[in-house]
Amino acid sequence: MFNFSQLALPLIQAPMAGGITTPQLVAAVANQGGVGSFGFAYSTPEKIHADLLAAQSLTSGPINANFFVFSPVCLPSDQIQKNAMQALRSLDVDGVQSLTIPAEPFYPNLMEQLEPIWNARPAILSFHFGLPPEGVIEKAHALGIAVGISATSLAEALAIETAHADFIVAQGIEAGGHRGQFDLQAKDEVLSTLALTAQLAQHCHAPIVAAGGIMNGADIHAALANGAQAAQMGTAFLCCDESGTPSSYRHYLLHKQDRPTTLTKAFSGRLARGLENTFTRTMQTQVTLPFPIQNTLTGPLRQWASTQNNAEYQSLWAGTAYAQIRSMTTQDLMQQLRNEIEAQHQKSNG
Ligand SMILES: Cc1cc2nc3c(=O)[nH]c(=O)nc-3n(C[C@H](O)[C@H](O)[C@H](O)COP(=O)(O)O)c2cc1C
Repeated sequence: MFNFSQLALPLIQAPMAGGITTPQLVAAVANQGGVGSFGFAYSTPEKIHADLLAAQSLTSGPINANFFVFSPVCLPSDQIQKNAMQALRSLDVDGVQSLTIPAEPFYPNLMEQLEPIWNARPAILSFHFGLPPEGVIEKAHALGIAVGISATSLAEALAIETAHADFIVAQGIEAGGHRGQFDLQAKDEVLSTLALTAQLAQHCHAPIVAAGGIMNGADIHAALANGAQAAQMGTAFLCCDESGTPSSYRHYLLHKQDRPTTLTKAFSGRLARGLENTFTRTMQTQVTLPFPIQNTLTGPLRQWASTQNNAEYQSLWAGTAYAQIRSMTTQDLMQQLRNEIEAQHQKSNG
């Protein structure tokens, strides 16, 4: 079974749904001594099967397959649907076709998505937004697959331990992408990555992986010093040659660094952190549909924006520290991180 001590570099390249985590990115990280992760949240079983096979043909290192735990959801009233649709139609975009209120099923069937996992048996299976259905963790363990789940609070971390998962991803408020809160009605404690990591390391027995705003070797070193066994880094890999990040998204990450990041529900119906753009600003006070119905509703708009190279209407998920992003091969980034950790280690050992 997977153990963090087997890693040459104590890092997990974060799962990032939406085409970013290509087999080439995942394999390059795993070949350089980290864990390469796929964000399979919206993928079909066929795509999951093909991506895992492709990555496994490029590496024998540890691979993580990540899924969302979607909660049952219904369409709100006709009036709310109308208002949410109106908000999108009033945007200053020509050429976006087929904005329609989504029909059921509103999200993929997790048990069907997991079928290829039981055959391909990646080293790790991980979940975002909650605990997987009963029996999934046990099944993974029986096949020698370790399970990790994200937490944004101690209460969530304790629930993860009770479910017998193997590690906890401590996701701080700095993190790019969707915030992994279990219960959207519960109060968000808004803890920073290091504060949450230290708190979980103190109260939990399971290994803690720190996630959020970690961009370099010194940040990894700080996470380990606060009790983490590894760091999970998403934004840092967005401009690697092997990642599937669209070119206009990369351009903004590298050249529009005066933009703040913001937490917005406007793209998907759930809070996620990304660069502020025309869409996030215009939609700030508008009605949105619940997650992930809003995500499906805005899909054609985001796709249109991507094909037009128009980053003002794309979801530009990124953590607060994105200005430190590096554009290079994954191998070079991993080598630089290794050197920086070593330098930091020597510094702190006097
Ligand atoms: C573009 C993007 C997509 C993400 N998609 C997922 C996902 O599919 N599953 C998941 O567990 N976390 C996802 N995350 C969150 C990461 O797991 C992690 O918490 C975050 O990247 C850490 O913060 P950082 O981006 O500052 O490194 C995503 C993050 C980004 C930036």
